Amino acid sequence: LDFEISRSERPTPAAEREAVLADPGWGQHFTDHMVTIRYAAGKGWYDARLEPYGPIPMDPASQVFHYSQELFEGLKAYRQADGTIVTFRPYANAARMNRSARRMAMPEIPEQLFVDALELLVGTDREWVPTTDGYSLYLRPFMFATTRALGVNQPADEYMFVVIASPSGNYYARGIRPVSVWLSRDYTRAAPGGTGEAKTGGNYAASFAGQAQAVRNGCDQVVWLDAVEHRWVEEVGSMNLFFVYGAGDRPRLLTPALTGTLLPGITRDSMLKLAPDLGLPVEEGKISVDEWQAGCASGEITEVFGCGTAAVISPVGQVKGPDREWSIGDGEPGEISMRLREELIGIQYGARPDPYGWVHKI
Ligand code: PLP
Ligand code: COI
Repeated sequence: LDFEISRSERPTPAAEREAVLADPGWGQHFTDHMVTIRYAAGKGWYDARLEPYGPIPMDPASQVFHYSQELFEGLKAYRQADGTIVTFRPYANAARMNRSARRMAMPEIPEQLFVDALELLVGTDREWVPTTDGYSLYLRPFMFATTRALGVNQPADEYMFVVIASPSGNYYARGIRPVSVWLSRDYTRAAPGGTGEAKTGGNYAASFAGQAQAVRNGCDQVVWLDAVEHRWVEEVGSMNLFFVYGAGDRPRLLTPALTGTLLPGITRDSMLKLAPDLGLPVEEGKISVDEWQAGCASGEITEVFGCGTAAVISPVGQVKGPDREWSIGDGEPGEISMRLREELIGIQYGARPDPYGWVHKI
């Protein structure tokens, strides 16, 4: 598919762009362009464009407004020390979008078209990739149903795929400090047979009430427990979780297994490969809230961290629930969490070798 290119006639002046890049915050500023591609049943993907960033005219009866057929992805473009711009495992994001698409009865997009769209946008707006250490250009591919119809017996037959890009600083404004997390008794994120493993907007809409409850209780993020027994730890906020069993001379990691209700994180998958290379065996298994608390009390669990594209690795320092509260570590980020973070960031920014070929040059 060839892209029709129409460049912005009024791109952001360089001085204004530099001011944004000096302090981009997170997800508040957008580059000068976007990519859009349309889909119609029977016709496939068509009308691929690179256009100036701007509003998308939508019919009020567009299916996405009513029945939420929507998917999104998230990954970053990094500027390496020698000026090379790269993304990280973009084909993994493409594959995950297509797994999400199957669950949401939406069309799959050819992986190469997904990656071509990212490359075109990042290549065009390359000046928006920050030079500051640790900053990046967050890429947000998404897809939604545009069919004008209120019938609810079948999925839409027309869709739009869009990519936008947002310069990003550190996800947590206050730097890497261990976060506090809230064990909600009232809300769950995903139930068996539901859409938990799909990256669809509705999962996030449904999470805001739980997140707000966490904040009301003085915590940064909410811990999602399984919907059936309300006992097994699944995720925290929008991150996958790792538990470090650090006591003794052979530290090891545990991460909740992908049961269908967890989002299969690409950072999680990268940890599963990198940790053993650093001499840290990892098990995918189950851990209950009681086991978590007891492990911290006995000193067996020495560190816990959440991981995801946006925050990379975020240590968990405090756990609170309606009937209990405990802490992990001494209030400082744990050594193993930080070593894994350094390793991953090192690969992304080109300071370390890339043994798995994850880095994708633009
Ligand atoms: N879990 C949830 C619910 C998420 O939304 C995300 C990120 O989007 C993740 C985990 C981490 O996924 P990734 O490492 O691919 O960013
Ligand atoms: C992540 O990239 O880790 C996320 O959690 C994405 C989030 C902003 C939806």
